[in-house]
Amino acid sequence: MGSKISKADDILRKMLSEKRIKSIEDKRVGSEVFDRITLKTLYKLANAGFIHRLNGAISTGKEANVFKGLDEDDNFVAVKIYRVTTSDFKKMRQYIHGDPRFHVRTTNKRQLVNAWVNKEYRNLQRAYEAGVNVPKPIVAKNNVLVMEFVGDEEGNPALPMRQSVILKPEDTLNKIIHYMKLLYQDAGLVHGDLSSYNILIHDEDPVIIDISQGMTRDHPMSEELLNRDIENIVKDFKKLKVNVSNEEIKSTIKDV
Ligand SMILES: Nc1ncnc2c1ncn2[C@@H]1O[C@H](COP(=O)(O)OP(=O)(O)OP(=O)(O)O)[C@@H](O)[C@H]1O
Ligand SMILES: [Mg+2]
Repeated sequence: MGSKISKADDILRKMLSEKRIKSIEDKRVGSEVFDRITLKTLYKLANAGFIHRLNGAISTGKEANVFKGLDEDDNFVAVKIYRVTTSDFKKMRQYIHGDPRFHVRTTNKRQLVNAWVNKEYRNLQRAYEAGVNVPKPIVAKNNVLVMEFVGDEEGNPALPMRQSVILKPEDTLNKIIHYMKLLYQDAGLVHGDLSSYNILIHDEDPVIIDISQGMTRDHPMSEELLNRDIENIVKDFKKLKVNVSNEEIKSTIKDV
């Protein structure tokens, strides 16, 4: 353990001294949280110009930390770093082994997390190309995903829907249903963890995030996941006094 930490510290120091990463303002980005391979990955992404500065944590979730960063051209980026130690491997295995796009049969934890991150990247890309309002994916390497930052020009991140004031809930709901439909029809995917936690509100528009568990439509589990996503949305909007039925949403999504 001791040597692991000192190695991680060495890499961090090297990154800072060589100005691969100009500054890391949040102490938690350091080796207290991240292992040597994660730091090496950040180092490589810094060398390639994807991350120039890490400006602090946006969120510390169960399995991943999301940081705000700046790329070489001073554009904000969001950097999602999965922790290899606290990931839900059972879920990852179940979802990855069932996905025809991935031939990963590994039980190695690091390899599973890497495949998971790659899955999130590819799902984001498919969704983005289908016109769903998602952060544009930029690069995925090992357990690190870099994507478009959702927030204002000053770098304030957009808030999740459950923390936002929704001015026109019916409009927001219709947009979400429209994105669910595009995701289903054009990207051929079901989100699988959709709720007011994984929808950010930016300029009154919903932005769908956290799509790593997204499944292809032809997967046997996809119907169950779609029903659950719809159920969550119905409940979230009931709280906002908008009544809509599961069937109504489902037929809109499935109607060609
Ligand atoms: N592209 C982004 N731009 C701005 N903020 C983001 C972006 N992606 C994520 N966030 C912020 O980070 C939070 C967590 O992100 P996300 O939902 O992807 O991971 P998570 O829920 O922590 O993952 P897990 O629960 O599996 O650990 C979001 O609620 C949001 O506040
Ligand atoms: Mg989430």
